[in-house]
Amino acid sequence: MLNRFTGKKILITGGNSGIGFATAKRIVSEGGTVIIAGRNQKTLRQAKEELGPNSDAIQCDVGDLKSIDAMTGEVGRRIGKLDGLFANAGIATFRAIEEVTEQEFDSMFGINVKGLFFTLQKAIPIMNSGSSVVVTSSVAGSSGRGSSSVYGATKAAVRSMARTFSGAYVSRGIRFNAVSPGPIDTPIWERSGGLPGESVEATKKFVAESNPTKRYGTAEEVAAAVAFLLSSESSYILGSELFVDGGVNQI
Ligand SMILES: NC(=O)c1ccc[n+]([C@@H]2O[C@H](COP(=O)([O-])OP(=O)(O)OC[C@H]3O[C@@H](n4cnc5c(N)ncnc54)[C@H](OP(=O)(O)O)[C@@H]3O)[C@@H](O)[C@H]2O)c1
Repeated sequence: MLNRFTGKKILITGGNSGIGFATAKRIVSEGGTVIIAGRNQKTLRQAKEELGPNSDAIQCDVGDLKSIDAMTGEVGRRIGKLDGLFANAGIATFRAIEEVTEQEFDSMFGINVKGLFFTLQKAIPIMNSGSSVVVTSSVAGSSGRGSSSVYGATKAAVRSMARTFSGAYVSRGIRFNAVSPGPIDTPIWERSGGLPGESVEATKKFVAESNPTKRYGTAEEVAAAVAFLLSSESSYILGSELFVDGGVNQI
């Protein structure tokens, strides 16, 4: 087993579920300390329990700037400076363009774009030089399905931030990269509003069959890529996008 995170402190938003939780487990297993943030108090508590003593949890809604401010302030008080951030909290709904509502649009942009931007802005002052930041984009940011029009636009914005923040903070020694998962088997697909109810199973089957590997990826497969980008092994990589997509956007 690698031991790339000994003595390192990493903040993970959306660390109480799916890809974020798998990444938290990976970092702890490699000697690191994680602080996970999310909205759901119950899953935060369960995740912290499973992660063990080298973990902490803070409730935060990244759709609310005051909540982000309070969370980063609390991180600073509890553990001091960070060595890494996985800005991963996000939501997804898929709808035909003519069916998208203003509420759905605002909520996806509010959490995925505005929430992520201000998570980075507020966390940067408590990051050590040499830190690495990974943001969660998606294959939807660079593909052309109409049902992903809003979600894909949010993820293209996230991908852009890996470049612009890298440009702005390279002189402070902070790197930013994007990870872009393809279809990954996590609770996001079943969350209310994600897919129209009756089509969840049919959509999941179609998505798996459309992938070159004929399957969904696992949260652990994404976590392995994120851990690489968060570690010093990727020290000469910044502003990049790493796809973990079974090849669906590549071949
Ligand atoms: N699964 C896929 O196929 C896939 C593909 C491409 C990209 N992604 C991206 O991967 C990221 C993680 O998703 P996942 O697949 O692991 O799904 P997930 O299991 O549903 O996890 C989403 C996480 O985001 C958190 N979150 C959502 N809204 C939040 C808010 N307003 N404030 C704080 N936390 C919030 C959730 O916490 P609470 O439960 O506490 O709300 C949860 O921990 C997302 O950005 C998603 O867009 C997923």
